[in-house]
Parts: sequence; C-alpha cells; structure tokens
Amino acid sequence: MDERKITRRDFLLSGLAAGLSVVLVDVRAPFARTAAESPLPNRAKSSPMEVGSPSRTALSAATHRAVHQLLDVPKVFDDPLALRIICANAEAGIRVDLCQLQKKRSLRAFIALRSRYAEDELARAIQRGIRQYVVLGAGLDTFGYRNPYPVSRLRVFEVDHPATQTWKRVRLREAEIAIPDSLTFAPVDFEQQTLADGLDRAGFRTDEPAFFSMLGVVVYLTKSAVMETFKFVASLPAGSEIVFDYGILSSMLSERQRSAREYLARRVADIGEPWITYFDPASLARDLRAMGFKQVDDLGPEAAKERYFKDRTDGLCISGSARLMKART
Ligand SMILES: C[S@@+](CC[C@H](N)C(=O)[O-])C[C@H]1O[C@@H](n2cnc3c(N)ncnc32)[C@H](O)[C@@H]1O
Repeated sequence: MDERKITRRDFLLSGLAAGLSVVLVDVRAPFARTAAESPLPNRAKSSPMEVGSPSRTALSAATHRAVHQLLDVPKVFDDPLALRIICANAEAGIRVDLCQLQKKRSLRAFIALRSRYAEDELARAIQRGIRQYVVLGAGLDTFGYRNPYPVSRLRVFEVDHPATQTWKRVRLREAEIAIPDSLTFAPVDFEQQTLADGLDRAGFRTDEPAFFSMLGVVVYLTKSAVMETFKFVASLPAGSEIVFDYGILSSMLSERQRSAREYLARRVADIGEPWITYFDPASLARDLRAMGFKQVDDLGPEAAKERYFKDRTDGLCISGSARLMKART
C-alpha cells in the first residue's frame, strides 16, 4: 500500500484501528494486507488459546504502544520498534485516525505504564546483578530486540503460547527485526505445560536469580495457572523478582468501573480471550509472601499517576481498576 495515499477508509479496512483497544473487531487484516505478511488465522468465538490461534489482544496491546510513540508527548514508554513490529504501514494508518485514537487514551496510558514500570524495575534488577530476564506472555513485546546488553550481561527468554510465538516469529521476519543471540524463545501454554519445563528446555538457569515480567496476561489465565507461575518464581534463588499487572475483584469496583469492565470483558470474550481471573490486592500480597516472596509492593493507580503522569500538560493519564505489583524472593 502506498503510504502517501492511505485514507481513513484504508486504515479502518486494514483492521489496524481494531487493534487500538481491547475492543477488537478483527485484527487479522493488517497482517493480510500484503501477501508477504502473516495473517492471524480465524479464531472461533468463545474458543480461547486452546484452539491454537495467536492472541489478538497481543496485537491490540502492541498497537497501543505504537500509537503512544506517535501521539503522546512526552512518552511514558519509549519503544523505537513499537511501530515496525505491528505492520509496515502502522504510522500512516495511525496518522489518518488521530481523532478516534485520542478517545482510547487511558487504556493506552496503562499499557505504556506497565511496560515502562517493568523496564524500570528490570534496569534496577540488572544493576544488582540479575542476568536473566523472562518475558511471560510476551506477545509483541520488543525488549528482546532492543536489549542493549551483551549476552554475557543479560539473557532474555520470551515465553508465550506456542501459537502466538509462531506468529510473532513470522512477524519479526517480515519486519526484518533481527533476533539477537541473547534472546531465546520458550513456547509454553501455561494451562497445559509447566513454566519450569519450558524454561528448562530453553536453557534457563534455575541456580541463578532472574527477573520476570508478566504484562497483560494474569487476567487471561486460570487462577491455578497464575499461582503456579508465581510459585515457580518464588522457588528461584534470592533476588529473583516478578512484575505483573492484574485486575481487582469486581466487588471492589465502583459502579462506573464495573460497567466499564463489563463492557470490555464482553468484547474480549467475543474474540475468544475472556478475562477470568481477578484478585484482592491484600490477599494476593499475603499469598505471595506465603509462597516465599520477601518483598511485595503493590503500585496502585494514585502512586502510579504520581510517579509517571505528574506534570503532564496533555492530560494523558490512567483510569480504571488495573494495578501493578512486584514481588521479590
Ligand atoms: C494481552 S496479550 C499481552 C502481551 C504482552 N505481554 C504485551 O503487554 O503486549 C496476552 C498474552 O498472553 C498470552 N497468553 C494467554 N493465554 C496464554 C496461555 N495459556 N499460555 C501462554 N500464554 C498465554 C498470549 O499469547 C498473549 O501474548
């Protein structure tokens, strides 16, 4: 497609617009526009990851990060690969639909925030000597391809559902994004396989501490799969850490927050990736401590706003009920 001639209609048809929020209609299209690009296969309604199709919400989150690069000044999260990873004409598509995109700002803000927070905490972990980073449910996360450290300083493991990971690898090839020696793929379906086995096959060292991020993933998994993942991290040497985001129980939401959640939850369920797991922050922190995590910190919306959105003049800010937590062994 000629970037100079792209129109709003092209953009909407391309499906990229549909990737701009969790309110997805059909995000196969941006990858199908050119024959060289990899389509997301059809995914039956009400058939989540077990049917073996890549995650559509992964494309949605990646599209938010791409839009953030273009529209928000200053950026909360700077990702020079965010546009390239989603599709060749991403920038042109985004630029023709700026008005629509501005309406999705708080979700975009949260998606930028969680990546920024994870990479800030990763930088601190590297300072204290961590040399393994595991990106759980990586989707189209690009840290592994921007990793400024040599393999001797930081190995990156991308864990994801096999179907999403296969699609991402095709996408990387098409975008001509090189896979560095420091990056290893570890396909794992958290509902069917153990993280321990998947990482073992990938050469992860369980005798060394590691840093984990799990962004936009917890809500899609069963509680038992989430807890098994936390237990694995808790079993690792002292200094290991995980950063993740999660939604609080619906009973803890205000009326407005509850109806916003119900609306979005219906939309993601319609595309086969239902939200199923929520937590009470206090009891989650207690459970993590009982597993062996020594330090557990919850970053609620007010603290996150103070740290990452203070003094902005463009009004970009988070809202809603998602929170961030980090836990260290
Ligand atoms: C909303 S996307 C988030 C992707 C990425 N972390 C980000 O922030 O852009 C959810 C991710 O969880 C992964 N996921 C969902 N269910 C999974 C499962 N059972 N096993 C492994 N990964 C799963 C999907 O493949 C997808 O990459």
